[in-house]
Parts: sequence; structure tokens; C-alpha cells
Amino acid sequence: MDKIEVEGVNDLKGNIQISGSKNSSLPILASSLLIDEEIVISNVPNLSDVIFMIKILKSLDSEVNFKNSICKIKSNQPHDLKVSYELVRKMRASFLILGPLLTKYGYAEVSLPGGCAIGTRPVDLHISALEKMGAEFIVKDGYIKGKVKGRLKGCEITLKKISVGATENIIMAGTLAEGETIIKNAACEPEISDLSNFLNNAGAEIRGHGTNIIKINGKKKLRGCQFSVMPDRIEAGTFALCVMGCSGNLILENVNDLICNHLKKIFKPLNVLSLNKNDSGDKLEIKKTNQFQQNIIISTKEFPGFPTDLQAQLIASMTKSSGKSVIKENIFENRFMHVSELRRMGANLKQKGSKIIINGVKEIYGAEVMATDLRASSSLIIAGLMASGKTIINRVYHLDRGYENLEEKLRNCGVKIRRFSE
Ligand code: UD1
Repeated sequence: MDKIEVEGVNDLKGNIQISGSKNSSLPILASSLLIDEEIVISNVPNLSDVIFMIKILKSLDSEVNFKNSICKIKSNQPHDLKVSYELVRKMRASFLILGPLLTKYGYAEVSLPGGCAIGTRPVDLHISALEKMGAEFIVKDGYIKGKVKGRLKGCEITLKKISVGATENIIMAGTLAEGETIIKNAACEPEISDLSNFLNNAGAEIRGHGTNIIKINGKKKLRGCQFSVMPDRIEAGTFALCVMGCSGNLILENVNDLICNHLKKIFKPLNVLSLNKNDSGDKLEIKKTNQFQQNIIISTKEFPGFPTDLQAQLIASMTKSSGKSVIKENIFENRFMHVSELRRMGANLKQKGSKIIINGVKEIYGAEVMATDLRASSSLIIAGLMASGKTIINRVYHLDRGYENLEEKLRNCGVKIRRFSE
């Protein structure tokens, strides 16, 4: 199994190309099942989650060619509308194929995703919405089996909790449903707008994406199209937090205006970084200008709030701050697997329910640590950059799910980092 060794303490300097968004690519790839003609998607990151989604599409008889960030897909009527446990257990986002299969083919069998390192993560919102649209489900042998008589029917769905995945599944189902589907209390994440823009290019009629009321007018058929995936705001935010934890000056390239403004907004209360975008908004310069203040309180929230996907990296970057701060996780229960590993590096972190209390220390120290999930892994990389000595991170396959060429990108900014296997 691969491990990564990072040497601290770092002062980061250089330019980093931000890759295409993982959380946008995955639903867009899943939605290819809705379209018979060829689609060409560019700026797709080469990540194990993306390769995994491609495996699922191929198991459903799609022809996929993925090279140099361009993914060409021609979907065909699948010979078997089943996605096995073997495929679903590795990636929860596999569940995103349920909406497309049901609305296009009227049947789907998908293994129920189990728990994962960041909590129980149920799928009840996806199921109840699709039921309201006319699908019938039974659970048998660990699989959810759904069928539809005729076409799914558009209706009004109010999500009782904001869910990115459920919003995406309903949007995809709605594109080929009969009549209008209205989602209230929908997620507003930019990745949902990216999926909607892609589907609109393919002839769908989706309005209101980016707000909490989304309306989808069902069509009989979608057509082939080309689309470029938005940049990854979580990757960009992770590099900003590398600068926050260490010091330095990074220029993030291939970002966009929305991401620049989002990062400026979420990091503003910390008052540590200066973030300056160029006129077109595709470059963002990040500099550490101040030391951390005391008594900072940050809570994770749905977009446009502080993303849960940056919570672990934020905690790592604050381990050497002065004084006491509090980070509250509001989206997932039990998303604190990184905390015990950071403690092993000398961080002073206390958990009180859904809060982590950080008492800043002068120094943290390199150690051998274990990655437990994707974002926990990147928090350990940040801690490794900040720690005295060498940090060895085990189970880096978690990192490969969501960060493209991470070591190379950091090496280009002066970091001593290497991957090895034992
Ligand atoms: C997506 C992102 C993930 C991010 C998360 C929250 C992708 C591929 N993944 O995950 O990186 O951390 O949004 O921004 O885009 N919930 C239910 N019932 C459901 C569905 C969700 O109770 O049927 C709960 C979840 O347990 C969680 C909350 O709703 O507490 C939000 O989860 P959701 O937005 O659905 O996350 P994902 O779409 O799985």
C-alpha cells in the first residue's frame, strides 16, 4: 500500500493548476445515462472516484473513452439494470445512478450504500422523492429495487433536510419525467448548477439552480453535447489552508470568479489570508498576511457557508494558532476521524459533541499517521507541512479519490514530499 512522506516546516511558493471538480464530475458522468447520443466532457479530473464512476457506466454498457481530462461517453441500453455491492460499497456517489436509470429505463437495482467513515449517511431523501414521482421500491438482499409504471411524474418535492445528492438525483430524474418537478429546500451548491448547466446544454429545461427552489420541465429525450466541468473549489480551498497553516504565497490557476468570491467569503472571518483575484477571476493569489486571532468560531454550513469538506483541513491549519478556537460540524455527525491522528502529532484538540476546541500549540511534530477518509487525508498532509520533522501518511488511497497530482503540485511549490510503498 502506498504511503506519503512530507517534510516540514514549509513556506509555500508557486503556481498551482486547480483541477476540474470531483463533486461536479460524478453527477455529470452519472447523468450520461440519460442521453443516447455521444457527450464530450472536458476538465474531468483523473481521480479514483472518477475512474470508479466510469467502471459503473461501463458495467451498464456505456462506451467510455477517458484521456487527457476529456471524457467521451456513448450510453447504450444496459443489458442488466443492476449495480452491484462491489461497485457501490467503494463510493457512495454510485447511488447517483438511481435517478437516471429509473427515469430512462423504468427499473434499477442498486446496492444500498453502507455507513462510512464520516457517519451513517442515509439515502431516505433520495428514495422518498423518487417514490413521490411514482417509483416503487423494495429492499431485498441489501439491494434497493425500484420500478416505475410508465414514466416518472413531475411533482412538488420539499426536502426535509438539504441534501446535495438527493437534489442531484431528483434533477436527473426530473429531466425525463412527465410534466414539471419542483424541488423546494434544494441544495444550492455550485456543483448542482454545473450539473444543471450540463443537462440544459443537452436539451433539458432546468431553472432556479443555485437557489433553493429548482424547477425541471421534463422532456422526452436529451441530446449529445459538449461541456467543461467547473474547477474544484474544495481543492482550491485545501491549498489556501496549506498557506494558512504554514506561510507563503500561492497563485491558484484555472479557478473562476465564483470560487474566488466563495473562498474570500469563507476565509474572511479568520483574518489570516489575503486573497486577490485577477480581472477575469481565473487566478487567485493567496498570501498569509496575519497570524491567527484568538476565539475564532467557525461552523460548517451548506453553500454559501463554510463547507464541511474543508473542516478537517481547517482544523489542521489552526493547530499552531495562538489561543482557543472552536470549529462546529453541522452537516455530518462523527466527521472527526482526523482529530485523533492530529493529536498524535502534538495538536491540542478536545471534542465536545459536534464541536472541536482547538488550543493552539507552538509546535506540532511529524509522526506516522493513518488517513481515514478523503478530507481527513488532506488534513494530515497540511499537518505534515506544518510539523517539525517527517510525517508518514498511511492509506493514501483515500487522497487519490479527490486530489489530482497532489504531490507534484506541492513539490512545484517547494515542498519535500514523496510517495513510496512498502
Ligand atoms: C455531497 C458531497 C460531499 C459533501 C456533502 C455535503 C458529492 C459526491 N459529495 O455528499 O463531498 O460533504 O455533499 O456538502 O457531491 N442525508 C439524509 N438523508 C439522505 C441524504 C442525506 O439524512 O437521503 C443527510 C446526510 O446524512 C448529511 C446531510 O443530509 O447529514 C447532507 O448530506 P448530502 O448533502 O446528501 O451529502 P452527499 O450528497 O452524500
